[in-house]
Amino acid sequence: MTEDSFVENLDRPHCTVVLAITADGNISDRPTTAARFGSPRDLAHLETQVAQADAVLFGAATLRAYHTTLSVRDPHLIAQRRQRGRPPQPQQWVCSRRAQFDPQWRFFQQPIPRGLMTTDQGAIAWQGRREFEQIITTGAAIAWPPVFRQWQAQGVERVAVLGGGVLVGSLLAGGWVDELRLTLCPLLLGATAAPMAAALPAGVKLELLSCEAIASEVFLHYRVIRSDPEAA
Ligand SMILES: NC(=O)c1ccc[n+]([C@@H]2O[C@H](COP(=O)([O-])OP(=O)(O)OC[C@H]3O[C@@H](n4cnc5c(N)ncnc54)[C@H](OP(=O)(O)O)[C@@H]3O)[C@@H](O)[C@H]2O)c1
Repeated sequence: MTEDSFVENLDRPHCTVVLAITADGNISDRPTTAARFGSPRDLAHLETQVAQADAVLFGAATLRAYHTTLSVRDPHLIAQRRQRGRPPQPQQWVCSRRAQFDPQWRFFQQPIPRGLMTTDQGAIAWQGRREFEQIITTGAAIAWPPVFRQWQAQGVERVAVLGGGVLVGSLLAGGWVDELRLTLCPLLLGATAAPMAAALPAGVKLELLSCEAIASEVFLHYRVIRSDPEAA
């Protein structure tokens, strides 16, 4: 099956989840450690997805595991972004209720525009500081409608969600995810690892748009068949 592009007419930003999973359905060897089992080819695939996004989103536990995020480094991808009238780097957003991060982490030194989406309480420590260019607060809990409305108002058209499972589960449960790009990696991590399914809602139906095997990895592209009205 060959690659397909998938664009749907929505009056909100289009949302693509990009994850590497092991052949036994795990996304890392432990919930607190970085996942480093993808090949260089998978890393290039991930960078391509990041380069196509206006906003990149990841969960707080993912930032705590990596202390960094993937910026666009390939000059060709940066040139393509400029040709599309986009800035060289997409906005990089972290989602957290508590927003407890160490400002010494490399993430805060990366030359990228950073955003924080958090609760009213979580925002307090970061207001008026240089670490985040933008902060979206969603009240006492994380809520997606105001976030997508704000992105829409800023001209964000494409969002790439880089994990982890808690964040992806929350977005899927609300019907905000349009596509999944999963890289199936040739590895078993077993029962002590972090399963992708742990935080996912049941019954989300997918349609396979493309499937490409390169060496021992399989690059899967799915469309989510819409059923939940929250994000419709
Ligand atoms: N294989 C891959 O492609 C891949 C990609 C990314 C991450 N990972 C792995 O995934 C693991 C982390 O994933 P995870 O599922 O444990 O965590 P996660 O989704 O990265 O982050 C969860 C945290 O994000 C905040 N959060 C996200 N959505 C929320 C919501 N709807 N409501 C409230 N808070 C929300 C909360 O932060 P606070 O606790 O701060 O309030 C929550 O504890 C790491 O081991 C990482 O290496 C793998």
